[in-house]
Amino acid sequence: MSAINSILERLSDGQAHSLRELEALPGMEATVLAASLDTLAAWSVEIERVGDRVRWRSPRPLLSEAAIRSHFGAGCPEVDLRLSVDSTNQRLRERFAHGRVCLAEHQSAGRGRRGRVWASPAFANLYLSVGWRFSGGLEGLSGLSLAVGLAAAEALQSFCEPPIGVKWPNDLYVEGRKLGGVLVETVARGDDLNVVAGLGVNVLMEQASPEVDQPWTTLARHGGERDRNRIAAALLRALTSLFRAAPAGIATLLETAWPTRDLSLGRAVTVFTEEGRSEGIGSGIDEQGRLLVATAGGTRRFQVGDVSLRLA
Ligand code: BTN
Repeated sequence: MSAINSILERLSDGQAHSLRELEALPGMEATVLAASLDTLAAWSVEIERVGDRVRWRSPRPLLSEAAIRSHFGAGCPEVDLRLSVDSTNQRLRERFAHGRVCLAEHQSAGRGRRGRVWASPAFANLYLSVGWRFSGGLEGLSGLSLAVGLAAAEALQSFCEPPIGVKWPNDLYVEGRKLGGVLVETVARGDDLNVVAGLGVNVLMEQASPEVDQPWTTLARHGGERDRNRIAAALLRALTSLFRAAPAGIATLLETAWPTRDLSLGRAVTVFTEEGRSEGIGSGIDEQGRLLVATAGGTRRFQVGDVSLRLA
């Protein structure tokens, strides 16, 4: 166990503990303790210092591989659980293995879609990525990134009272506020497609950093589950089942679940592309996951990529 894990476990009762007590933890020394407290401060973890005592203001249970495995049950994939990484997607891309999962308590360079930053405060949310190799060509995989968002929404619904909607291609929303996002990155290798599917879900976050420029929400705010290990296991189950069932399972999921969660269906939308903007009414998706928009000049199809969608 890392020094930071042992310190936070000791502070998880929300009580003040003396530095001397923390220094006595197995494997701890004054210099390691000081460096660990500096790291936690740099990650904006609210550790209050009063004299020689410290207290974690908003203590939370940590992610645990054993807990995730036990909630997942039989067939749990290989889990690489890190305290901090640049990005779980990046780590998996560098150490790609079929079925490998990477989870982190904190990301120093979390990535969003379209080159954006994904703010990743420590010990508050879920940041997870799954690596999967699809063999035998790209046939039937074009809707994959939408299906990942949809599978995540379905899995999270049991932890959230209001309905979770999906904004094309794969943003998760509750009551007009963003709950989570998906970043699917692919590398083609001959007939194989190596996929890293990354998912960020807001669970316990109480305040967002200044770079978050849109309304956001968390599962905890909606009467939902607070146990991140349980939620992580449910998400991993949903994603690995989806991948195992591909490509037929992707088509089935999109056909059955997309219309019920599609936030743009029947609504006025504006689509921004490199060529400009188009306005119309959201009209669902086609079999390849392209967005259909009824415009004055007829129905237009938009491919996932450098396209952004705004709902009226
Ligand atoms: C978006 O809505 O823009 C997509 C956000 C995806 C964030 C997740 S967090 C885990 C994984 N690692 C990353 O760097 N990004 C994804």
